[in-house]
Amino acid sequence: MPAKTRHNLLLILAFFMDLKNTIDLQHLPRHIAIIMDGNGRWAKEKGEDRLFGHFHGVESVRNIVEGCAELGIQYLTLYAFSTENWDRPQHEVTGLMELLVDTIKKEVPVLNKNNIRLHVIGDIGMLPESARDQLNEALQETGSNTGLNLIMALSYSSRWELVNAVKNIAADVQAGKVQPANITQDTLQQYLSTSQFPDPELMIRTSGEYRISNFLLYQLAYAELYFTNTRWPDFRKDNLYEAIIDFQGRERRFGKTGEQVKTN
Ligand code: IPE
Ligand code: IPE
Ligand code: MG
Repeated sequence: MPAKTRHNLLLILAFFMDLKNTIDLQHLPRHIAIIMDGNGRWAKEKGEDRLFGHFHGVESVRNIVEGCAELGIQYLTLYAFSTENWDRPQHEVTGLMELLVDTIKKEVPVLNKNNIRLHVIGDIGMLPESARDQLNEALQETGSNTGLNLIMALSYSSRWELVNAVKNIAADVQAGKVQPANITQDTLQQYLSTSQFPDPELMIRTSGEYRISNFLLYQLAYAELYFTNTRWPDFRKDNLYEAIIDFQGRERRFGKTGEQVKTN
């Protein structure tokens, strides 16, 4: 049966049965990346302060991390705070940092219980000391877990990461450790903050915005992009399942023709 027909059939089936059961567990994305967007608008729509939205967004993080771990997803990257987000009003930035410290403190036992290993990518030096300390403790305490790898992008931006990589490559060239003629895509990959992780196959953005906002520009080269109008604080496991089912209906061609990649 053609992949498209099978996918449409699965979506119809999904209306009548448990969405989770329609996921093909043999073809899960290894790595899912999410731009968790829409907290502020969600709060405003309820007549509340933007921080109220961030606070409720944590519940979605818990739910989605649990959902990914249950499915057996190996890597989940969550865009929690961008380099550009530092320019938001002081009240919001401070509130977000406090929420971060508080959440990490609370969640470490849950991560350990579920065998989840925490990683962080981003300009961590920009974070307040209390947040950095909490993070380092959490990285250590979850360091030997072997289940889901949860990668938090904090004070992260792709352009920051690429500039950083170029600086480090240049320094290694100057030190004679790297020959310019030998630089390949693999070399560049090793200098990125994601060097230990495979590229995401599925990127989800919530809240109806259709842009990448400086997130994993290099790593998303061949990711399937999924956009939903659902605001992040409303995003739950069923929304994740829908995104994965949609992903499983896509034909990933990597520059080849449809005929070349067809398997059925
Ligand atoms: C995403 O929600 C969370 C962060 C960027 C920290 P927003 O705060 O961007 O919410 P909107 O996009 O303004 O609704
Ligand atoms: C991207 O969302 C960053 C995070 C979700 C952490 P933004 O809300 O900051 O992005 P723009 O400003 O709408 O592009
Ligand atoms: Mg936003």
